[in-house]
Amino acid sequence: MEFAKKVLCIGAGYVGGPTMAVIASKCSEVKVVVADINAKRIADWQTDNLPIYEPGLDEVVKSAIGRNLFFTTDVASAIAEADIIFVSVNTPTKTFGIGAGKASDLQYWEKTARQIRECSHSDKIVVEKSTLPVRTAEAMERILNANAEHVHFDVLSNPEFLAEGTAIKDLLNPDRVLIGGPETARGRAAVEEVVSLYAHWVPRERILTTNVWSSELSKLTANAFLAQRISSINSIAALCEETGANVDEVAHAIGMDKRIGPKFLHASIGFGGSCFQKDILNLVYLCEHFGLPEVAAYWEQVVSMNTHQRTRFVSNMISKMFNTIVGKRIALFGFAFKADTGDTRETPALYVTRELIEERAHVVVTDPKALDNARRDLADLPQDLITYEPDPYKAAEGAHAIAIMTEWKLYRELDYRRIYASMEKPAFLFDGRNILDVNALYDIGFSVYPIGRPGKSRL
Ligand code: UDX
Ligand code: UDX
Repeated sequence: MEFAKKVLCIGAGYVGGPTMAVIASKCSEVKVVVADINAKRIADWQTDNLPIYEPGLDEVVKSAIGRNLFFTTDVASAIAEADIIFVSVNTPTKTFGIGAGKASDLQYWEKTARQIRECSHSDKIVVEKSTLPVRTAEAMERILNANAEHVHFDVLSNPEFLAEGTAIKDLLNPDRVLIGGPETARGRAAVEEVVSLYAHWVPRERILTTNVWSSELSKLTANAFLAQRISSINSIAALCEETGANVDEVAHAIGMDKRIGPKFLHASIGFGGSCFQKDILNLVYLCEHFGLPEVAAYWEQVVSMNTHQRTRFVSNMISKMFNTIVGKRIALFGFAFKADTGDTRETPALYVTRELIEERAHVVVTDPKALDNARRDLADLPQDLITYEPDPYKAAEGAHAIAIMTEWKLYRELDYRRIYASMEKPAFLFDGRNILDVNALYDIGFSVYPIGRPGKSRL
């Protein structure tokens, strides 16, 4: 079949995979190829057992795969035939050299840019999908157009705002789509090409077009603002615990102010995920680079507060459990960084596990979707101190304490009477997500400690 347009995405991860599946399902006249150097990932995308868990993803992939959605490891051929290339390779925080711990590691991105240049024999529109430091598109354009005599590249920024666990919903009904491009005739035409893809299903007034730098910076800023709300409410949670105020009531009361709004005010053990911390640190690095140390310090505090929240949670566990957890069995309910995903990148549960093992506790990890990732993440720890158990009832058997790490719906619906009966006494429950009913659990016999709300102790 002849396709009207050929789109390629390099990087078949949490962003590239679902985004391209939705574009393919909505634009049947467009050929969409997703390429990745990871052969297993590419193979898995073509099975019933997709490499990532996302509600609704299976159906979207099924609707288009083999029709106009294809997966390949042959990145070079895919580049050669594409008109529009989305780049969605990972850009983790640098772990070495200048900017280590803050700046983005751009090695995969730069390697990809060079490969695009080598394999292109016709003009291409290259779209940054990965979150990148401001001015990266400009650098990419320089790399691409260096030595390119007969081929021209237009580089655009189209950051992805989907959240994991609701990726398909977010992609199908986005608050906005943002496309940044050069303010030249060529640039505007390239932007229109990409607008026309999204316009298949997104109302035009929700497709924003800006200059490239605004687009790049908007993505970092959106994540910084969202994360800042969580750190702000978590800082107030600490104060609530000292004063007897209830953080859920405070959040509800302030959220009813339309200027503040109710979302992202849920106190928790802290935010995780591949984006928030990485993007804020990236922003901090940029501010430092441009000589704005006060601005950098302001945003860095969002990350410090998040780290503090986790540490505070673990210290509280230890102090409530008579200041020692050596040899105690502690069941962690949930390992994913949020519900409805198997993703464990930067999950608070990872840090909590490490701190508990440091204190020589025995940690039992349970999660409906993230156990494989948990095994991989915790591989460097002494395995005789960790048990991986899919069944939460079994995980709690003989435990001194349960700590809720992820707000999976199933943890609200368990039979806590049965769980209590199988645990060591006194039985502790630390609710790191504020999802359980403190009074009901106390009545069963637990000593219960939520975040930023009065706990109820039987001791
Ligand atoms: C995304 C964005 O791309 C990142 O910038 C954002 O800030 C976080 O989310 P994500 O899709 O979650 O990344 O990352 P990941 O699931 O790691 O997927 C990236 C894929 O790119 C991997 O499958 C990896 O194999 C692939 N890759 C990486 C390549 O195909 N080529 C490379 O050179 C490097
Ligand atoms: C985020 C952004 O929401 C998304 O727009 C961007 O594209 C990628 O980064 P994601 O990390 O997938 O998405 O999930 P999100 O729902 O934002 O949650 C991030 C973390 O914050 C999770 O650990 C979550 O549990 C936590 N969180 C969220 C809270 O602790 N409290 C809240 O009120 C909301």
